[in-house]
Amino acid sequence: MNTAIPKVTLDHLSVRLAGNQILDDVTLTVEPHELVGIIGTSGGGKTTLLRAVAGLLPAAGGSVLLDGDEVLFPTPRIAMVFQQFGLFPWKTVRANVEYGLRVQGRADEGGGVDRLLEIMNLAHVARLYPHQLSGGMKQRVGIARALCVEPELLLLDEPFSSVDAITREVLQNEVLRLWERNRDMTGMLITHDIDEAILMADRIVVIDGPPGRVAMQVPVRIPRPRTPRGVRSHESYADLRDQLWSALQNGSHLERT
Ligand SMILES: Nc1ncnc2c1ncn2[C@@H]1O[C@H](COP(=O)(O)OP(=O)(O)O)[C@@H](O)[C@H]1O
Ligand SMILES: [Mg+2]
Repeated sequence: MNTAIPKVTLDHLSVRLAGNQILDDVTLTVEPHELVGIIGTSGGGKTTLLRAVAGLLPAAGGSVLLDGDEVLFPTPRIAMVFQQFGLFPWKTVRANVEYGLRVQGRADEGGGVDRLLEIMNLAHVARLYPHQLSGGMKQRVGIARALCVEPELLLLDEPFSSVDAITREVLQNEVLRLWERNRDMTGMLITHDIDEAILMADRIVVIDGPPGRVAMQVPVRIPRPRTPRGVRSHESYADLRDQLWSALQNGSHLERT
């Protein structure tokens, strides 16, 4: 692999939906094994950006590249976790998790599904259906389903925002540990929570819109492994938080004028 090529490149990407400009000339790169956090005001185009990266929306201008090759359609190399879980209600937990493998005609070699059910604390509910699970458990299934195909790029769209505060912290921690273990995965995480972005991300991108544009990018220079407490007491935390907060405020100010 040529390490000089970014894992993901958004090259002057514009997206139009129903005649409206939703993303305007977004240029952004993500390095291999980088986890990029994306924050911004609601309606700014964050979900649209992630859907375009996943090959679910066409570019009106510019392009999305994965390892330098244009992404024009969804690919099993990219997996997405949705805010509202997006599970199949008629499939069991196990069948939901296995789904990606089956679509690709792949067998579960080496018991990967069982291992994932174990890691995500789902083994004891493997035979249940989504409606029998709490929000936190449903999102565990969503994350396990995305991880099951061993994606090179994991896209997370506010994955912890539909669960209560305690479950959120547990899930954040589980994803952090998964992240630190899995060196082959690159990620993009949308969140509306500045603290979550600082806790999880290597770099934070502020999207301002509509139409969505990159307003600011800042690296998070806090060593891993991270914990919420360790991050909050790090010397760079307060300044970073202020910087992001004012970028978000400026964005909403621009929107009003
Ligand atoms: N399928 C669609 N057709 C038309 N407009 C859309 C569609 N999806 C999203 N939008 C519009 O695009 C803008 C950005 O939406 P979205 O990407 O969901 O923002 P965010 O995730 O930052 O809240 C919003 O104004 C929204 O109404
Ligand atoms: Mg969104």
